[in-house]
Amino acid sequence: MKRAPLLLGVVAWLLAGAGTADEPARESRGGGLSGEQAFLACRPCHSLAPGAAHRVGPNLHGLMGAPAATRTGYRYSGALREAGLTWNEATLTAWILQAERMVPGTWMVYHNHLTHDEVQRLVRYIADRAGAPAGGD
Ligand code: HEC
Repeated sequence: MKRAPLLLGVVAWLLAGAGTADEPARESRGGGLSGEQAFLACRPCHSLAPGAAHRVGPNLHGLMGAPAATRTGYRYSGALREAGLTWNEATLTAWILQAERMVPGTWMVYHNHLTHDEVQRLVRYIADRAGAPAGGD
């Protein structure tokens, strides 16, 4: 039911230059953090290793292509369970930039300080490590 308006909102927001109204991204000109370094901002709450325990947030292994809020053994907010999201590069980018705007009521408390380039590298890093079948790492 809520899926179409939510996705339209996300698309409109991405087209409008996600996040720039609140806090302009720093210039990075090809410098800045690698995806692996950027993931340090997520690691206190998330692991990417196959089979590793959930932390404050769920293990993110195998995330890409999966519907939101479906990691087994993790208890999610009703807001994320009902959001009707599937994780891909666009939705993950929007989530990192402003999870609370994308899914009001989510339990993920994270305020992004990465540049847009760093977020893109982080999303690729997660996609490379979180879309593969178990057994990598
Ligand atoms: C302070 C802890 C914390 C930090 C830091 C954090 N997260 Fe989260 N994350 C959470 C929690 C808690 C949830 C569950 C949200 C809910 O149920 O509403 C979550 C959920 C998620 C989900 C949804 C997973 C699913 O199964 O649908 C993704 C994707 C995610 N986080 C990515 C990230 C990324 C990428 C970063 C770093 C840029 C990050 N998170 C930083 C706590 C955190």
